[in-house]
Amino acid sequence: MNIDITFDCSVVDFDLVRQILKRVGMGNYTDDIHRRAFQGSYATVFAWDKGTLIGFGRAISDGVYQAAFYDIAVAPEYQRKGVGTVVINNLLDRLPHFNVILYASPGKENFYRFLQFRHMKTGMALFNNAAMMQEKGFTE
Ligand SMILES: CC(C)(COP(=O)(O)OP(=O)(O)OC[C@H]1O[C@@H](n2cnc3c(N)ncnc32)[C@H](O)[C@@H]1OP(=O)(O)O)[C@@H](O)C(=O)NCCC(=O)NCCS
Repeated sequence: MNIDITFDCSVVDFDLVRQILKRVGMGNYTDDIHRRAFQGSYATVFAWDKGTLIGFGRAISDGVYQAAFYDIAVAPEYQRKGVGTVVINNLLDRLPHFNVILYASPGKENFYRFLQFRHMKTGMALFNNAAMMQEKGFTE
């Protein structure tokens, strides 16, 4: 499969982004909120198959040496075909020598391990919806 990559979020239909996020259990907001989150990010990456949006991701960053990944998602029918790897590698290309942190969805840790990420021993979070994040398995 030939995966096309774009970076400009201003030309993306965020209803499509929301639909993919919803299908993978991450679509918690409106199109406009997702659009604002991508527009406010340091780097955004979108993956396409012949004009169809199939995956994406974004990084927030200080632009110097620290970054964090969010909203990494691949449409279910395109998973395990290397799309997520291409999205992550394109984000990393735009963050040379940066520290990158993220929290994986429970069960998806092996994807990031495959990409050389390692578990953080002291990672901590103050989540807005702490009870829900605990219930979903993100926190102790
Ligand atoms: C996690 C996700 C982004 C991975 O994208 P992907 O395109 O399916 O991943 P790739 O095909 O690039 O996988 C590369 C390697 O990572 C590992 N991997 C990927 N998904 C995995 C999974 N669900 N379980 C275990 N290992 C996995 C495998 O080693 C895989 O190589 P292989 O298929 O040759 O065995 C995708 O499954 C997804 O969108 N999931 C739902 C949303 C989500 O959980 N996002 C992460 C939020 S932190």
